[in-house]
Amino acid sequence: MKDKPVGFFDSGLGGASVLKEALRLLPKENYIYYGDNKNAPYGDKDEKEITRLTFAGADFLVSHGVKAMVLACNTATSAAIREIREMLSIPVISVEPAIKPACALPGDGKILMCATLATTRLERYQKLRARMPDPGRVVDVPCPGLADRIEQGVFGADAFDDLFRGYFKPFEGQRIDAIVLGCTHYVFIKDAFKRYAQEHFSGNAALFDGNAATILQLGRVLEEKGLSGASGEADVAFHTSGDRAYFEPLFLSLLRG
Ligand code: DGL
Repeated sequence: MKDKPVGFFDSGLGGASVLKEALRLLPKENYIYYGDNKNAPYGDKDEKEITRLTFAGADFLVSHGVKAMVLACNTATSAAIREIREMLSIPVISVEPAIKPACALPGDGKILMCATLATTRLERYQKLRARMPDPGRVVDVPCPGLADRIEQGVFGADAFDDLFRGYFKPFEGQRIDAIVLGCTHYVFIKDAFKRYAQEHFSGNAALFDGNAATILQLGRVLEEKGLSGASGEADVAFHTSGDRAYFEPLFLSLLRG
């Protein structure tokens, strides 16, 4: 069992940002990645459809013999984590928008929680926000179209201003203490968020994501269950429901970048 790989699932390429953290923090594990690029983005779909697609992704990874699974997608987690955990006998670790560390920042500037429309609407996230000491400080900013553009292989620091102008218009010139990247795709365009924030907000607008916390949790769970692997060098296998010839080189360049 120890020698089996850990499975990673995302609607598309975003989960590679979490896998990248895994390669840094848990370099002795082997990994299988499955991106449902054919059906991405998930963020504009309804809960039932996201759950159905997430189940299909989990089935794929289980059929490849994974010893644990990382749901490296906030949207899939929000919709389906409870059912997936009930269905599978292996440990399932999930990502969570990092509003908790962001809320620990001193001050009363706003915290913008950027995520897909589905994540911001679903009950799981709403409950998480309600548990914060000052939930009113956290403002949800759904970002329709953003993950989709990243799926198209666009990552430039100045390549998202048209979308950002739409999402962030109500906060122009305001004090923003933090921006939470509540979608694993967004972690690849930190420079674009930083650049826009510097030009349009006051306050530090520190960026937060939940990737490292997710991998630390994966490490703890593997350890607890006696499942930690010890391969010499991590092996990564890539699978996609989309066009492999297009997505694999992109995936590999994101992992190495
Ligand atoms: N990467 C995903 C997330 O973390 C979803 C992007 C999408 O498919 O809309 O939410």
